[in-house]
Amino acid sequence: MAPVSLSKLIKKRALTPLFYRLVSDLETSVVIEDAEGKLLMATDGAERCTRYPVTVTGEVIGWVNGTEKVAVIASLLTCLAESEMEKRALVSETLNKYKEITLLYDMVEKVSSCLDTKEVARLVIEEARRVFRLSSVAVLLLNRETDVLEVVGEFGHEPGVTATVSRGVGIAGSVWASGRAEIVNDVRSDLRFVEGTDSICSLMCAPLKAKETVVGVINLGNDQPVTYTAEELKLFTTLASLAAVAIDNASLYEQLQETFYTTVYTLAETIEKRDPYTGNHTKRVMEYSLAVGKILKLSEIDMARLQLGAVLHDIGKIGIRDNVLLKESALTDDEFEQIKKHAVYGEEIISRISQLQSAIPGIKHHHEKFNGRGYPDGLTGEEIDITARIISVADSFDAMTTNRPYRSGLSLDEAFGELRKYAGSQFDPIVVDAFFAADVMEAFFAANSRRKIIF
Ligand SMILES: [Fe+2]
Repeated sequence: MAPVSLSKLIKKRALTPLFYRLVSDLETSVVIEDAEGKLLMATDGAERCTRYPVTVTGEVIGWVNGTEKVAVIASLLTCLAESEMEKRALVSETLNKYKEITLLYDMVEKVSSCLDTKEVARLVIEEARRVFRLSSVAVLLLNRETDVLEVVGEFGHEPGVTATVSRGVGIAGSVWASGRAEIVNDVRSDLRFVEGTDSICSLMCAPLKAKETVVGVINLGNDQPVTYTAEELKLFTTLASLAAVAIDNASLYEQLQETFYTTVYTLAETIEKRDPYTGNHTKRVMEYSLAVGKILKLSEIDMARLQLGAVLHDIGKIGIRDNVLLKESALTDDEFEQIKKHAVYGEEIISRISQLQSAIPGIKHHHEKFNGRGYPDGLTGEEIDITARIISVADSFDAMTTNRPYRSGLSLDEAFGELRKYAGSQFDPIVVDAFFAADVMEAFFAANSRRKIIF
């Protein structure tokens, strides 16, 4: 806070007439100087007999010279200066509170509906940049498998700066271990400073505490020598507390999502196991479908339902008897009619699970044909949901290229030829074009590799 200026104080419009009245009533003269002895005011016939200090919080800001009568003027100016100081402190405190409330309000509004940890980190960084003096900021979260903190969002760091923090190592590692926020205004003289990290002069580091457990830290620094204050640390800690709650919620949601998708995938695989010759069909259809969806620039929501639809497209086969589903010779008309029912059975099963509703069009209509000659509803063109049109191409391509006990699969070139041939009749030509534009071979190899599926 800037010091009170005696020069400005005595020039206050409301004070000047009162001041002269006081000097006149005291029947004396007076000379007022600032702390360095510069003359600020003098009345006629003034003499510098005795100096009386004017102080604020124990610090001399000027002098009142004259007879002993002017001591009262020095006391009055001291009182006014102290009052001015208190007023400024109050204004500053109110402003800080206002900043804190605004920050909290903005943060709560932004992160309350956010269920993605990286997005929460991005919002927190955005807010920190708006409020604090900083040149870099990073949000680090605990990786429970490796027991190190990893950067999930950052701004302003030099390329190649270490992205992980071990417990107790460096300032951030120390805050992680202690769970207490810290200001370090001279980073390089701190014993915990790790050489080779950012060229930071001053920093604030706060723990991200969720249910009394430190799940990460927020590190904020400046490459210029600034002095972070206790008020700033308090506000920063508030931001970190809010971020921790939001990150904890988002990470719980992500775990739930992962469990949900794993359950869905396991369910689809269980059905697939009934027909051992189709090994990994579901996985390949999903990979091809996602590759096509990416080329067609589907929205995030459509990509999610495409993925679910592709994984569950044949879930209805659970309702088809083994002697029909696993028959190795040609199907009779009646048997084919039974097989066709799997599209509607799939809809019936999935309609009972609210979280999977968006996958129903892909499941029910993946055997519709672009020309209206498919099943179960004989839909045409864009009446068929985009996810179903994509799954149809992916499913057919995989069926064509897979060996069955009663026939060998087509070569890739032959299968590509079939897709071209039936583009516009069986398949949506736009989807077929996207299939060729997509790096399908990459998806083909990815689907046949042993890598873990990441939803
Ligand atoms: Fe099917």
